[in-house]
Amino acid sequence: RLPVSLPQLAEKKRLGEPIVMVTAYDYPSAVVAEQAGVDVVLVGDSGAMTVLGYPSTVEVSLDEMVMLARATRRGLKTPLLVADLPFGSFEASNEQAIATAQRFVKEAGADAVKIEAMGVAAERARAIVAAGIPVMGHVGLTPQTATALGGYRAQGRTAARALDVARDALAFQEAGCFSIVFEAIPAPVASELMERMEVPVIGIGAGASTDGQVLVFHDLLGIREGVGARFVKRYAGLMDEMVAGVRAYADDVRGRRYPESDHTYSIDPGELERFRG
Ligand code: KIV
Ligand code: NA
Repeated sequence: RLPVSLPQLAEKKRLGEPIVMVTAYDYPSAVVAEQAGVDVVLVGDSGAMTVLGYPSTVEVSLDEMVMLARATRRGLKTPLLVADLPFGSFEASNEQAIATAQRFVKEAGADAVKIEAMGVAAERARAIVAAGIPVMGHVGLTPQTATALGGYRAQGRTAARALDVARDALAFQEAGCFSIVFEAIPAPVASELMERMEVPVIGIGAGASTDGQVLVFHDLLGIREGVGARFVKRYAGLMDEMVAGVRAYADDVRGRRYPESDHTYSIDPGELERFRG
């Protein structure tokens, strides 16, 4: 397969072919995404929680995100690689936003960056696009400003809030974003907005009308404790399998069932004799 390009994503939208996006944060998750044949890999700042164990996305640093993106890049050949601009890495000025986006491109080989809607986000997106780096917008539930939104809850559930989401989406589109993520908004609101979206829209908890879907790697594979948001569909229960595997290993070591002869190295009897001296 050839590397996925931005025109290919636009073409998929035109043809009505669903676009598949998944998050990844390291080499093995990237290899999984590559082998599964997804179109877009997002190094999401959800990695703050899924792989770094922070309580929310606001704690993750730019350096940490760049490291996750670098590891992910090493596992990818085909999907488009998008990296999240973390909280605090783009708000201060257009110069800061461009410098941050350039780090993801130069140090991690990212193809594009993603930015969450908030006051200055569309202006920052425009500046990054003008600097030659493709930008994906993110509207609806935007975890970096979840406190201001009233917590991790669906957005656009009143006419006034749905208009806020519409304004954010159109501002990103107007700013030159090549794609937009719709997160946690009512399906009828998303479907109404789709009529005005000229760029591919990737949904998560936004119903079936969007041009594609994205899920968090650890949510869809069940590499986590507890259940995720309403929109998560769990396709595997790997956390349970991993615990069972490590527990079986621990039991084998304690029961002296591991290692067996197959797991050990031999030595020529003569050499052993000489060694014993
Ligand atoms: O960080 C993330 O995983 C995301 C997706 C849920 C879109 O932003
Ligand atoms: Na994110």
